[in-house]
Amino acid sequence: MAEQCSSWIHEWSADEIAEIEMAVVSVGTLDIMDITPAAFALPTVAKRLAKIKQQVLHGPGFFLLRGLPVKDWPIRKAAIAYWGLGVHIGRACSQNGKGHLLGHVKNIGLNYDHPQSRGYQTSAGLSYHTDSADIVGLLCLRPGKEGGLSSIAPSTTLYNEILRRRPDLLVSLMTPFQRTRWGEIPEGKDPWADVPVFMPYKGRMITHYVRSAIRKGQLLAGVPPLTDTRMEALDFLDTLAAKDGIRLDMEFRTGDIQLLCNHAILHSRTAYEDYEEPEKRRHLLRLWLACTDGPPLPHWMTDAYEGKLGDGRPNGFEVPGVALNAPLEAE
Ligand SMILES: [Fe+2]
Repeated sequence: MAEQCSSWIHEWSADEIAEIEMAVVSVGTLDIMDITPAAFALPTVAKRLAKIKQQVLHGPGFFLLRGLPVKDWPIRKAAIAYWGLGVHIGRACSQNGKGHLLGHVKNIGLNYDHPQSRGYQTSAGLSYHTDSADIVGLLCLRPGKEGGLSSIAPSTTLYNEILRRRPDLLVSLMTPFQRTRWGEIPEGKDPWADVPVFMPYKGRMITHYVRSAIRKGQLLAGVPPLTDTRMEALDFLDTLAAKDGIRLDMEFRTGDIQLLCNHAILHSRTAYEDYEEPEKRRHLLRLWLACTDGPPLPHWMTDAYEGKLGDGRPNGFEVPGVALNAPLEAE
């Protein structure tokens, strides 16, 4: 894949950028959350997005769109363009207990060791994990000073390689782990969710894995301690995902949009260093997208997981009573 970039990177043409900019102008002063595919008309780009979406949901699981000229755009314009492209792919889900449909991946000075802080609010390196929606999209507004390399690993390959190298560890990874909900708890649910790492289902390997959520789940009353074997299985998975020949590295450039299918791809990033000046700091816009044409999901991912809408897709962190919103600044 590293040598076949043309199969997973598309650089926008001038015509496509003009089409996207025209769509941004056409929405006028509409609230971002009110922008629907119909309100953000993309006569030719939408066809390309439909193909890319199939590749992300039902093919290799990842794609990179390169060259959106966000460098010279105000934040609202970049956010509208990104949202508009996103709603042609799926429905935006809440990414946290504050109801953010548009997320900001930016170091806001939180300590990742705090039980309720999330990786996206820090500059810490993040181990391989999946997010809580069908697709996660990141738009790079600014890559930061140094580091912050994105790496991905295909979960089906991970499963097959564990089967080949350490089959004794697979049962552990196919039994539910108790992962914290980071205090963002839907009504009537435990402060943790029971989800195995590997969930073969209807001909697909569905994977869900957030090591930090399992680790923090261990601090909750009522959660059984992890056995040594299960710890070893998680360590083995982490090590395997980072190996040459399994992981694929991507260095974000300004204007890059990375799309990943969370059921098929684990992602991670290295720690990063920022500039002193706030206006130059690393800043990514994030979308979590639910897709009704995503792969069928086992009950762990729907009934027992973080709630669902009528369309039955993982729905991020929706907390009753919290209004959905799309902030233009990191909070
Ligand atoms: Fe993530």
